[in-house]
Amino acid sequence: MKRYLPHIKKRWYCFVLAPVFMMMEACGEFILPYINANIINKGAATGDISYILENGLLMALLAVFMLVTGVLGAFFAVRGASHLAAGVRGDTFRKVQTLSFSDIDRFTTGSLITRITNDVTQIQNFSQSCLRGMFRSPIMIVGALVMSFRLNQTLARVMLVVVALLACAIAAIIISASPRYTRMQKQLDELNTDLGETIISMRVIKSFVREQYERAQFAAINSELMKKSVSALKMMLLLQPASALAINVTTLLVVYISGRQIMVGSMELGTLTAFITYLSQVLNGLDFVANLVLQGTRAAASHRRIGEVLSTVPDIADAPDAGHDRRVSSGRIAFENVSFRYFKNSPGMVLSGVNADIQPGELVGIVGSTGSGKTTLVSMIPRLYDPDEGRVLVDGTDVRELPLAALRESISVVLQKNTLFSGTIAENLRWGNPDATDEEIIHAAKLAQADEFIRSFPDGYETELGRGGTTLSGGQKQRLCIARALLKKPQVLILDDSTSAVDTKTDAAIRRALREEMPGVTKIIIAQRIDSIADADRIIVMDEGRIVGMGRHEALLASCPTYAEICDSQRDRKEDAHE
Ligand SMILES: Nc1ncnc2c1ncn2[C@@H]1O[C@H](COP(=O)(O)OP(=O)(O)O)[C@@H](O)[C@H]1O
Ligand SMILES: [Mg+2]
Repeated sequence: MKRYLPHIKKRWYCFVLAPVFMMMEACGEFILPYINANIINKGAATGDISYILENGLLMALLAVFMLVTGVLGAFFAVRGASHLAAGVRGDTFRKVQTLSFSDIDRFTTGSLITRITNDVTQIQNFSQSCLRGMFRSPIMIVGALVMSFRLNQTLARVMLVVVALLACAIAAIIISASPRYTRMQKQLDELNTDLGETIISMRVIKSFVREQYERAQFAAINSELMKKSVSALKMMLLLQPASALAINVTTLLVVYISGRQIMVGSMELGTLTAFITYLSQVLNGLDFVANLVLQGTRAAASHRRIGEVLSTVPDIADAPDAGHDRRVSSGRIAFENVSFRYFKNSPGMVLSGVNADIQPGELVGIVGSTGSGKTTLVSMIPRLYDPDEGRVLVDGTDVRELPLAALRESISVVLQKNTLFSGTIAENLRWGNPDATDEEIIHAAKLAQADEFIRSFPDGYETELGRGGTTLSGGQKQRLCIARALLKKPQVLILDDSTSAVDTKTDAAIRRALREEMPGVTKIIIAQRIDSIADADRIIVMDEGRIVGMGRHEALLASCPTYAEICDSQRDRKEDAHE
């Protein structure tokens, strides 16, 4: 609740005015039948036209009053609830942006999306219903009961008994329905997670012709959701017939009892009419409360799920004593006995006992089979993940003691799975440095060997990219990502398999440019092709999370069997290609 308070405070008048107007409307609701009864009893029975007109006018005025208060109440309820939802959505979104990679791995992307959208909507619906009915319904129920007692004690007692019985029935229905609702909500989450994943990876699914499989998987989850919805909603369907039965039984009793009373003259006809109206008001009120409780159970589940996100302490954050004015100056990197695994309960390590020292300005290549831990190793440098054991040092300081912003500011990583955004090429490049001049942008693009193809587009640097840069080829995308990383003017540049889709000649040109134009920058290049790193100052060979060789190309060929093997396999492939 504490989390919602600031947003409620900001629009406090909505949260006060909505219930007030709704209560005013409810008062009209139970005065109306009373006047109506008087018209029938006193006016119609005696033929007093002026009495009928006077009270008729009163009823009309009351109806206008109810219309106005009802509309105002609904207006403030919608406004208050929408603002609350927008606030909570914003909070959750901001929180998600502070989460670390491993936090996001744990929640999954789909579930985070569901929480920000569907779960917040549940809270919005519930708070809107609360604002409209929280006070109105109890007032309606109590008010109608009180008015009934004023009209006729015997009938009111009958009504009280039936209402009490119905309230018990409704409570029983809710108790059995609410766990079913929780299960339905969980299944909806699963469906959304699957949907999120499928739609995000539509291109891959299509290229692997996996639509059939995805369809089957979705169908299974979907049908499970359908079953759980039926199970939850069928309980709710009982509510309607139960209140209809209650209305009919009570009407029957009321008519039976009052029929005799009217015949002996101890009751008037108008009283009977008013009575039946009150009866339906009480039952409607109960119905609303029942729905409110059910909405509440759903909202409680959503509240919990949003709370989980909001209360997450990102596992990677600034140390409290991180000197905020510290900058990375030299770009020297050291790994000291680094061990790591993604899941803290998995038996094998992804990295074990890694030691390496990389000098400022050095160009280091990293090779190794897929899954050997290359990406994991470099992601420890900008603290995308923290090691479980050992330390990663930049400039001789443990990265956990450096301010996160300064650390990431000075390290440019071109990830294996890189992303461009919709917008122009120039806008995308400016992600690296919002203040970059046109000359700087062109310079960076030239270094990344991207200038030429950018200029070949009719709009040049102002070419609009589709969402995710889908209008470019893989190699073009990779070169833009490198240019974007260069614009950051980093101390450390990490390229993770970033030239895999670029031809060998361009690849070599990029490396030459980096060497010549950025001599002071530490460069770490992960590559599949030995050619891409053969001329590096030093090559690190990885295998199953360990460093199995380190040195120059020639030395490694002689001393490191794993490296020799990789070279052999690539030479074979090249010869095959030539034949
Ligand atoms: N986000 C992740 N969550 C869980 N396991 C991961 C994750 N990323 C990589 N792994 C696992 O860690 C191991 C090393 O992966 P990675 O560092 O990406 O290897 P490389 O880059 O050398 O191909 C692999 O077994 C991979 O399955
Ligand atoms: Mg990798």
